[in-house]
Amino acid sequence: MSNFSDALAENAEAVTQVLGHFLVVDDETPEKSLTEAMRYVVLAGGKRIRPFLVTASAGLFNVSESSALRTAAAVEMVHCYSLVHDDLPAMDNDELRRGQPTCHIKYDEATAILAGDALLTKAFEILANPATHPDPKVRCELIEELAKAVGEEGMVGGQILDLLSKQRTLDKPEVTRLQRMKTGELIAVSCEAGAILGKAPEAVRHALRAYAHDLGLAFQIVDDLLDVEGNETDVGKKTGKDKAAGKATFVSLLGIEHARERAEMLAEQAARHLEIFEEKADPLRNLAQFVVERRS
Ligand code: IPE
Ligand code: IPE
Ligand code: MG
Ligand code: MG
Ligand code: MG
Repeated sequence: MSNFSDALAENAEAVTQVLGHFLVVDDETPEKSLTEAMRYVVLAGGKRIRPFLVTASAGLFNVSESSALRTAAAVEMVHCYSLVHDDLPAMDNDELRRGQPTCHIKYDEATAILAGDALLTKAFEILANPATHPDPKVRCELIEELAKAVGEEGMVGGQILDLLSKQRTLDKPEVTRLQRMKTGELIAVSCEAGAILGKAPEAVRHALRAYAHDLGLAFQIVDDLLDVEGNETDVGKKTGKDKAAGKATFVSLLGIEHARERAEMLAEQAARHLEIFEEKADPLRNLAQFVVERRS
């Protein structure tokens, strides 16, 4: 996997550069603290899995590097916004993220809310810009699919289900739906973005969607496992939070061992959906393996 780690790190570096370029602090303006907070959040590290999915899927369809990286940066901005809001006192009330103080601790709650808002909207501004893709239909489709993935039918809907899960016991189909919305939809649109940029035919998109579906679930199960088994220093966030908050997860439903087996099974299943792409999809196959083996 060491080649894969290098590829992930290389892509993370390229995306980080693009992110930095989009967020320039103007010292002359009184609102510069907002841009500073946005930079703090976005440049703080992170595995950059979603940007990797965008560029790896774009790599299947000969998409230009600049289109892929701009789209990857937009997706990562949305992800970072979701983390800032997820950590707020009204949500998970977390003080550590990516090994550093969360945005509302480093700045204040109002700044964290606004930095999240501004990252979310900036992502759509980037996608709408002709530099992202010359064809306006492609840009509109990216915007529509990302909006659907992170709105009330996707990530934000999943976040409310996650909070409501503290109040009652959910069964397996309910937890699956919650996880799919909360985490899976953004992962799915990250995979699909490459196909949209490359104007790929439906059959091919279908295979990518199937991969993303299984990968997204595996990813969140491992996140939940790391909350139980992980080491705070490696994970970069406080652990043991889900149980303390009474959250419904696959770990609370199945126990550690079965949850891990399920994640591994899902990652293998995810990779099997990629056969039509032959060896071109190796980066996506390796990512599925990484997702279940990760320690952070
Ligand atoms: C954490 O996502 C939030 C979830 C959706 C579970 P990641 O584990 O991808 O976080 P970073 O980006 O690497 O910090
Ligand atoms: C967060 O899920 C998912 C989103 C931000 C949409 P978690 O609450 O499990 O993520 P962590 O564990 O805080 O990273
Ligand atoms: Mg949460
Ligand atoms: Mg959280
Ligand atoms: Mg978690």
